[in-house]
Amino acid sequence: MIRLILIFLALTTVIGGFRIGTGKSDITGPVTQVMMMGYAELGQTGQGILQRLWARAFIIEDPKTKARIVFVNTDTQSMGDIIKKRVVEKLQERYGPIYTEGNVMISSTHSHSGMGGYLQYTLYEISVLGWIEETANPMVQGIMQSIINAHDNLVDGSLALSSGELLDSNINRSPQAYLLNPFEERALYKHDVDKNMTVLSFKNNQGHDLGLVSWFPVHGVSINNTNRLINGDNKGYAAYLVERHMNRNISPSFVAAFAQSNEGDVSPNTLGSFCTGTDIPCDGTRESKCPSGSKCNGRGPGWETSGIESNRIIGENQALKALELYTSESTQVDGTVDYVQRYWDITKAVVTNHDKQSKLCAAAMGYAFAAGTTDGPALHGFHQNTTHGNLGWDIIRNIVKRPSANQRRCQAPKPILLDTGEMTSLHAWQPEILDIQLFKLGNVFIYAVPSEFTTMSGRRLQMAIKTALIENYLGNEDTIVIHSGPANGYASYCTTFEEYQNQRYEGASTPYGPNTLQAYIQAFEELVFMMANPTNHSIVSEELPDYTKKSFNLTPIYRSDQSHLFRSFGDVLRDVSSDHFTKTSTPIVVSASFVAGNPRNDPMLNKTFLTVEKKIAKDQWKVVRTDDDYDTRFSWKYKHQLLGTSEATVEWHVAHDVEPGVYRLGYIGNSIAPFSNTDETFQRESVS
Ligand SMILES: *[C@@H]1O[C@H](CO)[C@@H](O)[C@H](O)[C@H]1NC(C)=O
Ligand SMILES: *[C@@H]1O[C@H](CO)[C@@H](O)[C@H](O)[C@H]1NC(C)=O
Ligand SMILES: *[C@@H]1O[C@H](CO)[C@@H](O)[C@H](O)[C@H]1NC(C)=O
Ligand SMILES: *[C@@H]1O[C@H](CO)[C@@H](O)[C@H](O)[C@H]1NC(C)=O
Ligand SMILES: *[C@@H]1O[C@H](CO)[C@@H](O)[C@H](O)[C@H]1NC(C)=O
Repeated sequence: MIRLILIFLALTTVIGGFRIGTGKSDITGPVTQVMMMGYAELGQTGQGILQRLWARAFIIEDPKTKARIVFVNTDTQSMGDIIKKRVVEKLQERYGPIYTEGNVMISSTHSHSGMGGYLQYTLYEISVLGWIEETANPMVQGIMQSIINAHDNLVDGSLALSSGELLDSNINRSPQAYLLNPFEERALYKHDVDKNMTVLSFKNNQGHDLGLVSWFPVHGVSINNTNRLINGDNKGYAAYLVERHMNRNISPSFVAAFAQSNEGDVSPNTLGSFCTGTDIPCDGTRESKCPSGSKCNGRGPGWETSGIESNRIIGENQALKALELYTSESTQVDGTVDYVQRYWDITKAVVTNHDKQSKLCAAAMGYAFAAGTTDGPALHGFHQNTTHGNLGWDIIRNIVKRPSANQRRCQAPKPILLDTGEMTSLHAWQPEILDIQLFKLGNVFIYAVPSEFTTMSGRRLQMAIKTALIENYLGNEDTIVIHSGPANGYASYCTTFEEYQNQRYEGASTPYGPNTLQAYIQAFEELVFMMANPTNHSIVSEELPDYTKKSFNLTPIYRSDQSHLFRSFGDVLRDVSSDHFTKTSTPIVVSASFVAGNPRNDPMLNKTFLTVEKKIAKDQWKVVRTDDDYDTRFSWKYKHQLLGTSEATVEWHVAHDVEPGVYRLGYIGNSIAPFSNTDETFQRESVS
């Protein structure tokens, strides 16, 4: 009898560590006419879809204390603080107080090819022409739905962690700034970017595969600022690959999230930067000039073919590594679940450095902010490593807002281009209240920052948190601390104090001055204190402001749709060029065009604008591709904007390994008739 009880106890401690659930849902908003978020490239509006954008949710509950955390990864450039707030409000309407700002973390892949309009501060609104409810609503709805799915899927399960090196997939794009960090500190690390990927694996108690979250720092800029098709960049593609593999062969609802980490100075353009049209290397500084007509630009591994090819390679590298780590030996995660979060006013922070106290600065962006990065060309006349302004721009800046003497001193050596923190026109230009958060899963801690941390900033913050955890008896030498971000909001960059002195893009975009990182470190030490002393309420949380009612939206309004003369919606305008293809080594592109309605009528969440169908019997077709697949493209344009007539094109890049057969391309859309609010769905096919 005693023997039996002992065995029973042993089993329960090995399995059933947590209650876990995974879920996924579509967050693609308007795919046309809205500006994309990330490059601030005027005119870079959506024209269709390469891949859909997704929210992927993971819930972990401590079965003993019922403490629960939610981690969501989204295919976005960053996360809007108001998006998180609205998601939490909706969750509370549905579930009551189980979900709060404290236990929901919404992270971002940092794709630069999604639509904009979900950040409420003026600087970021200007870069995409506004706060766009048409983007924000499906995003809130999709994130919410992904969490509902995870909630409905909760089962007894286990978590495991593994970590390993992934080479040839990221480089430092500001090594000059990195080199200013102390030699002894740099000597602790083999590389000037973090090469380790960390994977958290989710399995149920029968050992079935449920999902994974991977963290690896690399910018989502494999696809450059000339792209007009919505997609999740390299991490969106990595997630698609892993899920397709697992869903097909192993587990039909496996969810794979590729989250971002300390990627501030980390580029996927692994070959380095060159003057376009030449093989002259460049670094974006005044000294490294490109020949006239040529610009300094990053090159990914597939640059000779296309950005889509570079993206495929960087995405696939991450996918294969994550699968390898998922299936390799890993450390079981066990212990209690806890969380702590706070809205924190960074501009009120006071840091102590070598016994000297300094106040953080009001936000401001420097000259090199306009220089952009070496992943994409600069505005004319702006350079990396700029510590002095010039008269012409200073005059223009002073017309907008002349920085106070105090602000100039505080931000030095940053020459201020945009004094965002002292600008009062419209509403706040950059945030003051930041969402900072820390999750505990046994001896693994995940923290979220609303900012793009450079490699060394992330390492310092990670180390400081670990030290604080040990000091507060929450951790030990084996404690793992994971950096997740940008998450929960967006406040541009964070460099180290030393990197800040070399005003490259990242330093110039560190809004709150040279002590920004030190302020984050102290705020996280306080968070750790809060976790260790849950009954001590000496550290308070601020109120998050909501400016969305005062915002502007300059996205083109659109009118009703008209079909073309003598044709109806969905009619084929241009059929596939030939009805018979033989195999070749390179993909063949087949395409067809249709009379269309504006895709903004309905973003087709969780559905598709296109289908590729295979004939399987007489009058029987099976859908083999949608607009989420990497080898299909959906694009849309006006034929006559004044008349409201438009055309949609469906493309399929048929790889050589596609099974021979009869296929057809389909288009599904919505039109809004003039003088009516009802829309009509139509669907047509073109046989190839
Ligand atoms: C969208 O599709 C996912 C599966 O890909 C599903 O889990 C989710 O519930 C769907 N969302 C909605 C709103 O139907
Ligand atoms: C990276 O992962 C390897 C295991 O593959 C480990 O030995 C190494 O310590 C890790 N490096 C860092 C910086 O975490
Ligand atoms: C940055 O610019 C300063 C002059 O303003 C120059 O002395 C320094 O060498 C430059 N540093 C780099 C890394 O380009
Ligand atoms: C951007 O990507 C497109 C498509 O891959 C390519 O044709 C173009 O040369 C790239 N532009 C630059 C400046 O690298
Ligand atoms: C809370 O912690 C602070 C800082 O350690 C301490 O000064 C204060 O006395 C504590 N308050 C309570 C009510 O324990």
